[in-house]
Parts: sequence; structure tokens; C-alpha cells
Amino acid sequence: MADTTPRATSNRSTTPGSSTFKDFIGSQWADREQTIPEPREQAAFAAERRARISELHPGRTIVVPAGQAKVRSNDCDYPFRPHSTFAHLTGWGTDTVVGSVLVMTPNGSGHDATLYFRATAGRDSEEFYANPEIGEFWVGPRPSLDAVAADLGLATADLGSFSDVADGLDASALLVREADDDLTRTLDARLGSAVGGAPATDDVLARDLSEQRLVKDAYEVGELRKAVDATKHGFDDVIADFDAVLAHQRGERIVEGTFNRRARADGNTVGYDTIAASGHHACILHWTRNDGAVQPGDLILIDAGVEVDSFYTADITRTLPVSGTFSPVQRMVYDAVLEAADAAFAIVKPGITFRQVHATAMEVIARKTAEWGFLPVSAEESLEADNQFHRRYMVHGTSHHLGLDVHDCAKARREMYIDGVVQPGMVFTIEPGLYFQQDDLTVPAEFRGIGVRIEDDILVTEDGAENLSIGIPRTPSDVEAWIARSGR
Ligand code: GLY
Ligand code: MN
Ligand code: MN
Repeated sequence: MADTTPRATSNRSTTPGSSTFKDFIGSQWADREQTIPEPREQAAFAAERRARISELHPGRTIVVPAGQAKVRSNDCDYPFRPHSTFAHLTGWGTDTVVGSVLVMTPNGSGHDATLYFRATAGRDSEEFYANPEIGEFWVGPRPSLDAVAADLGLATADLGSFSDVADGLDASALLVREADDDLTRTLDARLGSAVGGAPATDDVLARDLSEQRLVKDAYEVGELRKAVDATKHGFDDVIADFDAVLAHQRGERIVEGTFNRRARADGNTVGYDTIAASGHHACILHWTRNDGAVQPGDLILIDAGVEVDSFYTADITRTLPVSGTFSPVQRMVYDAVLEAADAAFAIVKPGITFRQVHATAMEVIARKTAEWGFLPVSAEESLEADNQFHRRYMVHGTSHHLGLDVHDCAKARREMYIDGVVQPGMVFTIEPGLYFQQDDLTVPAEFRGIGVRIEDDILVTEDGAENLSIGIPRTPSDVEAWIARSGR
């Protein structure tokens, strides 16, 4: 099962094959110091997460693959990122070994967890120097089984022995199906499941794994704070770069690149592709091509988040006047969006339903667009379920859960998510916006091409809520002062 054959590069391979060379490269290496670390902070939290999922699925083996790197082209891959469920249940971060598998085996009263991964290869192996995918000379050494066991507080075993585990599985086994396509196909074939048709029990597992992430533990909240903090620095960097942004014909790319530098320096990477949308591009909700110019007088909508090394990500949007001050109409739109965001934040506390956050923001959006004369009916009428005229100017939702995935907990049931009750420890965005397309004949010409979104990351506390991203300026005057401080 653990295929260590490199992908085809034989048409350009120059690796010597003589036994003289093999003997030489396999010899005269100093012994390695084995350092056994203390358990990382997340290990105890991951153990609790596993215990909760164990309770929900007694008596069944649970298989959670990390997954493989996705092929970009031929033998080039996208950077590897393990499946979020694997990260959640193991606590392993950017140092995860590709292709690992967590197996939870019933032990009568709960489950024993074992992490299978490809242990370090000896210097006498060909893999060591000749395998560009996993060889030490190519991608660096792998940790030892003992070191990872101590680090994560988990039993470990070599991936080579996972096939014995797979052979012993029966049809009651549960699998996180979307993590590793090859492994899913292999296990389906062995267990007699229909390929492509997920057994219903796996859907239940995916649902439970998603729902157990709705409330964050203390470690997760700490990591999200770090992600927001790094994101703040990224926004600071972008503002400091505004001269270069304005000077370049693809200024949006300068914004993306500057933010990306911070994300790579302070975290793992960005948690999703940065949206750097200047002028009317701001009305394209997921504008990630970012190849436009940034013109003096433009608003630029920047939706960006740093993902830290544990894979928790921020998701922040600020809409900034690149020349330093909002025009009166830009400010009118900005103030309306800010009012919607503040109104939504004000109601957040345990016991409300998640849906109410969106409904509250929409009351403001409907009222403002009605006041400006854009709706064919009153705000009250527009808010009726069968009308919703105001949604022309904000077609997206106001909030989503945030965590290991930018759109976290996506497999939770509707009654746990949009219709769910808000609880302490939940983290979600509040991100209302107003977007007036450049050819929208329902709005006056001066509104056309203006898009504003303000997005913050909200932690639900015992008696209310904390805006984790409050330190990133968001009122018009604070935004203007922020840009002025950068010397513009
Ligand atoms: N950045 C994507 C979103 O705000 O949901
Ligand atoms: Mn968002
Ligand atoms: Mn966003």
C-alpha cells in the first residue's frame, strides 16, 4: 500500500546505477542524534477530540488519512496540506509526513489510536538519495517513530504495516473518505463498498467530525488569535506598500504578493487565495485573479487571512481608500456596511441562533438601500421571504464558521449550523457588504462600481462576543488615520 516508487522521470534521470556508486553513497555517514521531544501543547487537546469521536462511534475502527500531495502537473505537486480532520485529531501541523494514516481501533471501552507514517529511511536505501518525492536528499529527513510518538502523545507504527490493518478491517469500519482518494478506492475494493458511493456511516462520521469542530477548544482559540495577529501585520505591510501598489500596472498583484510574504514569513501560507479587488473588481465577490491596476481614488477591497503552522486561519476583509480618504459616496456605502456589521455583532451571545446574525445585518442593508431609493418596495416589504430585493446588492451570507478551514464545519447539519444555537467557543465571521455593479441601472451612476465588505472574526464568550480582529482599523476615521500613519 505504501508505494515508494518515484513517478516517471526516467527520461531525464542521471542517477548512477552502479553498485560501486550505491555502496559509496550508502556509507560513511555519521550517526544521528535521536532527540525525543516533550509532547507539544496541542497533544492533550487532540486526545480529547479523539475521545469525543470515539464515544460517538463505539466498536468501529475509524480510519483518518492525512492524504497525498495533489498533482499540479506530471511530477510537480501543490504544496502538501493534510486533511483538516487529520490535523484536528492528531495535532500534527506543517511537519506532517505525507501519506500518514491515523487508525482508531476499538478496545472494548473506547479506542486505541495509532499513527501510521513512513518512518525515516536508512542511508543504505535507494530512497535516501534517488527518490525525488520522499527521499531525504530531495525533501529532507523524516522524523523517527519514537520522536513523533512523544511529540504527539500517540502510538506510532511504520506505514508499511498499515496494510495488515487494512486487511483486518470489516464492513463496520469508518473512513474519512475525501482525504486520500487512492486509499478510499483500495478500502472500498477490500470492504466491498461501491466505489464513488459513500457508505452512509462514513457520511455520519464526516458530519460528526465537522460538528465537533463547531466549538473551539482553548488551543484553537489561541491559534486563531495568532492567525488574526499575523493577518493584521499583513494588512499593515500592504498599506505601507501603497506607493508600489499604485505604481505597478498590476497593483492588485503587489497587494497579494505583499500579504503573501507576511503569510509565509509568519505562518504556513494564506488560508485561502487573497482577494485584492480594486475599483469595480470589488463587486466580484471572489476576485482572485488580482491582475488589475489600482487607480488613485479607488477603494480596494482586500480579503485575506494568514494560516498559521497548525493550519488555523484568519479571514479578514478591509476596504481601503488607496489615496487615504473616502469620497462622500464611498463613505456613505462604507458607513452602511459598518452599521450592518456592528448591529450583527451586538446581538451575538450564547443562546441566539446563528441565522439571527445574518438576519440582523440584512435589516440594516435593506433599510439603507431603501433609504437611498434603490428598492422598488419598503425595507420591511423587501425583508419578506418572497421579496429580498436588497439582496441584489449583497448576495452572499453574513457569517460562516472559521477554524482549520476558512469555511469550517461545512459538513455539519443545517440544524447545527445555520439553524444552530450559538455557543461559547464558537468562532465565526461577520462580513456584510454592499456591491453596486458598474452596470447596475437600479443605482445612481456615482454608486456604480463601488464594492465594500468589512469582515471580522468573532469569538463567542460566556456572555457575549469578542471581535478578535478589532485591532485592525475598521471605522472610516481609523482607516484613514491608519493609512496616514504609513506616510501617505
Ligand atoms: N474569504 C472568503 C470568505 O470571506 O468567505
Ligand atoms: Mn469569510
Ligand atoms: Mn473573507
